[in-house]
Amino acid sequence: MPNFEEDDFPSTPGKFKIERSHHLHHGFGRQFSRVFSSTSTMLIWVLFLIALTVSFLSFQTTVHTGRSYGYLSWADRKWEREVRVSAQIQRPHGMSVLVTGAAGFVGSHVALALKKRGDGVVGIDNFNDYYDPSLKQARKAMLKRHGIMVVEGDINDAKKLNKLFDVVVFTHVMHLAAQAGVRYAMENPHSYVHSNIAGLVTLLEVCKSANPQPSIVWASSSSVYGLNDQVPFSESDRTDQPASLYAATKKAGEEITHTYNHIYGLSITGLRFFTVYGPWGRPDMAYFSFTRNILQGKPITVYRGKDRVDLARDFTYIDDIVKGCLGSLDSSGKSTGSGGRKRGPAPYRIFNLGNTSPVTVPNLVGILEKHLKMKAKKHFVDMPGNGDVPFTHANISAAQNEFGYKPTTDLETGLKKFVRWYLSYYGYHGKYVN
Ligand SMILES: NC(=O)c1ccc[n+]([C@@H]2O[C@H](COP(=O)([O-])OP(=O)(O)OC[C@H]3O[C@@H](n4cnc5c(N)ncnc54)[C@H](O)[C@@H]3O)[C@@H](O)[C@H]2O)c1
Ligand SMILES: *[C@@H]1O[C@H](CO)[C@@H](O)[C@H](O)[C@H]1NC(C)=O
Repeated sequence: MPNFEEDDFPSTPGKFKIERSHHLHHGFGRQFSRVFSSTSTMLIWVLFLIALTVSFLSFQTTVHTGRSYGYLSWADRKWEREVRVSAQIQRPHGMSVLVTGAAGFVGSHVALALKKRGDGVVGIDNFNDYYDPSLKQARKAMLKRHGIMVVEGDINDAKKLNKLFDVVVFTHVMHLAAQAGVRYAMENPHSYVHSNIAGLVTLLEVCKSANPQPSIVWASSSSVYGLNDQVPFSESDRTDQPASLYAATKKAGEEITHTYNHIYGLSITGLRFFTVYGPWGRPDMAYFSFTRNILQGKPITVYRGKDRVDLARDFTYIDDIVKGCLGSLDSSGKSTGSGGRKRGPAPYRIFNLGNTSPVTVPNLVGILEKHLKMKAKKHFVDMPGNGDVPFTHANISAAQNEFGYKPTTDLETGLKKFVRWYLSYYGYHGKYVN
């Protein structure tokens, strides 16, 4: 005796009908069978009508949204509306920018600056716990007050990225999401591959398929100079001797983006940031943790290089970096491909964004002591060979020539602004007071 699975009904009505009548011929009389077959004819008509209605409704949805998702729930529609409002351009010839890592330090500042001058901005961030996620949530809330939406999502989530590109025609992508930090790679190497390699490729795949393709500006790092000891660091210097996994993934990013530029005509600008600092900064960085420890009366560890030479960094204030990011976006030039096919050569650029005046770490501590009006308990330690380079110093003439990049904030002034923010955010005793 045939066994009728419920599944068979919607997908294979033909089979259902045949087997059903076969079964009935055996068990019942002819009259009964006729009644039954007319019932099933009716059933098929009813089904046909239902199908017609469903296809009409989904056609209407398609007409309404310009896409063929079928049904959109109320929550989906609300989400799309928020995304669209956030992406709205409010100035002539403005742009719509997808900012990845928007709940991060640099990302939140760039998103805000774009919005303030009238560009459309949508952020995406996965709010990972590499450092205190509540700081990322606070940045998100700050952006929300300025009309910027930060979507919670991973750049490895192609579906989510595609959905954003379906809702908004992004002219630019400012890609700042990454696993940052040099020393953490010894603890969690795979997080660098996940965000800086796999995530980058996923994002580029989505961008190359978008129509029109956006122009992409992304953050590489001064760490790609690695063991290079020619100063100042110029873009043409060798970058094939990375000293950390972080640097290696950033260098890989430069090669990967080159490939997407070459094959698909994506406009690419890579920015090698030099030690960025400022308000809303990253708690894992030295100036930030020094401030916390000095205020709490705890000792700070100051690393020293070979032969007791002080480490030095080309500290760059966040507002200068933001100007460099906006200048890069404005001068990026268009991608030439569409729908995954290259139509012609597109710009591929790499720029240093630094401050051109390295400061030693003990000098940094001295400035902090002055602004905090407290003495640091310094604990000098020889630098372990785990990836930090002894010094950095940017040659910024390329960015200067291309879009007039000119840093204007020295470390003394910038740290003053950082300390003011720190105290307003955490208070004197490290408690969150906002
Ligand atoms: N701050 C610096 O001194 C400095 C120096 C050189 C390069 N950079 C680069 O600049 C960019 C921004 O750095 P930052 O200092 O603002 O760091 P950040 O950690 O504050 O910001 C990065 C943000 O990206 C998010 N993120 C990480 N992986 C993600 C993923 N897979 N999907 C979605 N979101 C993800 C994080 O949650 C974080 O909010 C990074 O690419 C970093 O490598 C920074
Ligand atoms: C800085 O870089 C430019 C190229 O952008 C180069 O011509 C110049 O020589 C460099 N300057 C120094 C001091 O290395």
